Amino acid sequence: MPVLVTGGAGYIASHMTLALLDAGEEVVVLDDLSTGVRANVPEDRVRLVVGDVGDEPLVSHIVKEHAIDAVLHFAGSVVVPDSLRDPLGYYRNNTCNTRSLAAAAIAAGVRHMVFSSTAAVYGLPTAPGPVNESTPAAPISPYGTSKLMSEMMLRDAASAHDFSFIALRYFNVAGADPLGRTGQSTPNATHLLKVACEAALGRRPGLQVFGTDYPTRDGTGVRDYIHVTDLVSAHLAALDHLRAGGASDIMNCGYGRGFSVLEVLDAVRRVAGRDLTVEYGPRRAGDPVELVADASRIRDRLAWRSRLDDLDTIVAHALAWEQRIATGTRSRTRRRAPARAEAAAAVPSLAAIPNG
Ligand code: UD1
Repeated sequence: MPVLVTGGAGYIASHMTLALLDAGEEVVVLDDLSTGVRANVPEDRVRLVVGDVGDEPLVSHIVKEHAIDAVLHFAGSVVVPDSLRDPLGYYRNNTCNTRSLAAAAIAAGVRHMVFSSTAAVYGLPTAPGPVNESTPAAPISPYGTSKLMSEMMLRDAASAHDFSFIALRYFNVAGADPLGRTGQSTPNATHLLKVACEAALGRRPGLQVFGTDYPTRDGTGVRDYIHVTDLVSAHLAALDHLRAGGASDIMNCGYGRGFSVLEVLDAVRRVAGRDLTVEYGPRRAGDPVELVADASRIRDRLAWRSRLDDLDTIVAHALAWEQRIATGTRSRTRRRAPARAEAAAAVPSLAAIPNG
């Protein structure tokens, strides 16, 4: 049965759509194109509905028209500092819209949802080392709270209705489609690897390291960077689990190992083969020292296995995508997916990335 992907013109969900199509699924995308990029949606192979996930009549219509059985819900706002400036906007886009989407979808017959949650629900973990799902959630940003509230609503809806869900708590999602079909295209993105890749390609003058006095091995913040392709495969595993009658659950999605900001920048220098202009600044408000996933639950319960757990690979794919944007050679996702061998050869070699 077809699935509905919300936010399908965005970074992660555009990878999801391609993975679903590769798996033989039928996909409908709902996106208001407020931050997403239309070219990310392969419109020759999926139906794109431009609209708001909080529009209950619209969602009801889509679900009934296409006999949707599952929703993969990605649409939302994701920048932590923005959520501090506009908390009510974040509660509307993330919490209220998830409520409306779930209400309309369940009433129209949807049985399952895979929900994009976040490691930001953990706030500032007090003990060092990986966090597991039993670690008390204590978000310190409206973004984290807006996602935690959504998890709670889905849990309660699953108790009351013929409906099951998995909330995946993403750690730091990075990289791009290894086949070069899509990547992080959002203008003015703020996250570290995107910014560093732009700097490496001369698309911005440099970047700032936010804080050098953290109690970590080199004084900079530590995060668990997960390749977007592995994250998307976790969603496929979650969908299979729910369709097979598996229980609702909440699961971390990371690799279980952390890299510091300086280690990420070193990887970008190494892979790009060029230096970066870096300034060392103060800490950014709301940043935890270290956020690393204990991923044993998802490995045990969904038999999820990572395939691209290598920082240089993540950086290489992010750089290759950035290069495509820089040179205007981004492939159209609407192009038919190349066969695997052809695709492996299609990933631009790093030597092919020209100097700024
Ligand atoms: C990211 C996600 C957030 C998710 C969280 C889970 C984005 C925009 N945010 O937040 O949705 O909930 O992971 O772990 O993807 N840094 C710099 N200089 C920069 C940018 C970042 O030093 O220019 C540092 C930060 O201080 C931090 C690390 O790099 O230590 C990662 O920051 P960032 O990429 O912004 O992601 P998070 O804030 O961890």
